[in-house]
Amino acid sequence: MKLLITGGCGFIGSAVVRHLIATTDWQIANIDKLTYAGNLENLKDIEGKPNYHFEKADITDEARIDQLFLQYSFSHIIHLAAESHVDRSIMDPMAFVKTNVLGTAILLNACIKAWSDNFKDKLFYHVSTDEVYGSLGETGFFTEDTPYDPRSPYSASKAASDHLVRAWHHTYGLPVLTTHCSNNYGPFHFPEKLIPLVIHQALSGKPLPIYGDGMQIRDWLYVRDHCRAIERVLQAGEPGQAYNIGGWNEKANLDIVQTVCALLDELRPDPAGPYRRLITYVTDRPGHDRRYAIDARKIERELGWRPAETFETGIRKTVQWYLDHPDWVADVQSGAYKDWVGQNYGAR
Ligand code: NAD
Ligand code: DAU
Repeated sequence: MKLLITGGCGFIGSAVVRHLIATTDWQIANIDKLTYAGNLENLKDIEGKPNYHFEKADITDEARIDQLFLQYSFSHIIHLAAESHVDRSIMDPMAFVKTNVLGTAILLNACIKAWSDNFKDKLFYHVSTDEVYGSLGETGFFTEDTPYDPRSPYSASKAASDHLVRAWHHTYGLPVLTTHCSNNYGPFHFPEKLIPLVIHQALSGKPLPIYGDGMQIRDWLYVRDHCRAIERVLQAGEPGQAYNIGGWNEKANLDIVQTVCALLDELRPDPAGPYRRLITYVTDRPGHDRRYAIDARKIERELGWRPAETFETGIRKTVQWYLDHPDWVADVQSGAYKDWVGQNYGAR
């Protein structure tokens, strides 16, 4: 297999690259633009492996993408490259339209150009999100048949890219797979997202911003479980199908922040007092989705995937990882994170 992974220097992409280098002997090329969210440090440990290649490239650069398809003769693609943060999508939606919509179309078209009509043993795997389904009330779950109802520029751009993927399947016969995963957490997570942000802020003695009443619910999955699901879907998913990925782990944001504070109190006590003293209620995110919850029965039943981590084991490993990697934390804090802090809703 000659596999292209886009966005392999980001949070989930780097975990997928590391996972597949460890579990397969596939040739893997990682194409990444290295935006603020892409970090070569995330893959330091696999640099130099003979079956791993990195190319700094922008998926919206059509000529470059076509040239890389010729150079590497990819047979399979896992497409993760995206602008991924909802808050940033509210501030700069066009960047999301460009990368998430146009970039996906350019990759789909590159497949058609490179593979002509010979789709045997070829696959385009699109990594999407549960946010395309919109926001749930107090009950119910997102299934693969839930109608699309995206509500932020980010989720709308991901929904648009999903539709392009479906269209290329129905119109050109391109073999495609799409997965919709819930909120991931784990190592190498850029600290604009809730869990790493809270860990970084707490360790610096800074406020822990809770948007609105903090009772919004997200469904959390440890990133390595997402990687295992991606590998399983890539190998056994039925082309043309979509699969939801989630670990049945609904938590309110306030519970998440309190759990992280309690773990830090245990593992790195602060002489100034419990970390929860830093919790600060701030202005809500505009259009904030209230609740996400994934019905993962299809992937469990059809592909036999189940998460290995509970939220309790996963969040403990995650907090411990940030404490054990002060160099990575310092590196990120001195770079793009420094410019971002203070930009999120509470601080404005
Ligand atoms: P991330 O922001 O951490 O990483 C995105 C990566 O894409 C970065 O390495 C960045 O440099 C690269 N990139 C951005 N624009 C690019 C461009 N124009 N050309 C090439 N590379 C570009 O994102 P993540 O959290 O790892 O998410 C990865 C994918 O998974 C995204 O498609 C996202 O929508 C999806 N997803 C994320 C979550 C989550 O909880 N983080 C959940 C479900 C789905
Ligand atoms: O559901 C999957 C999605 O999860 C992915 O598609 C996105 O790429 C990913 O960013 C994530 O989106 P969220 O918006 O749910 O993640 P975020 O970490 O930004 O926020 C999680 C919740 O915490 C959300 O309800 C907003 C809230 N929040 C977030 C931040 C950054 C706060 O209360 N305070 C904060 O400072």
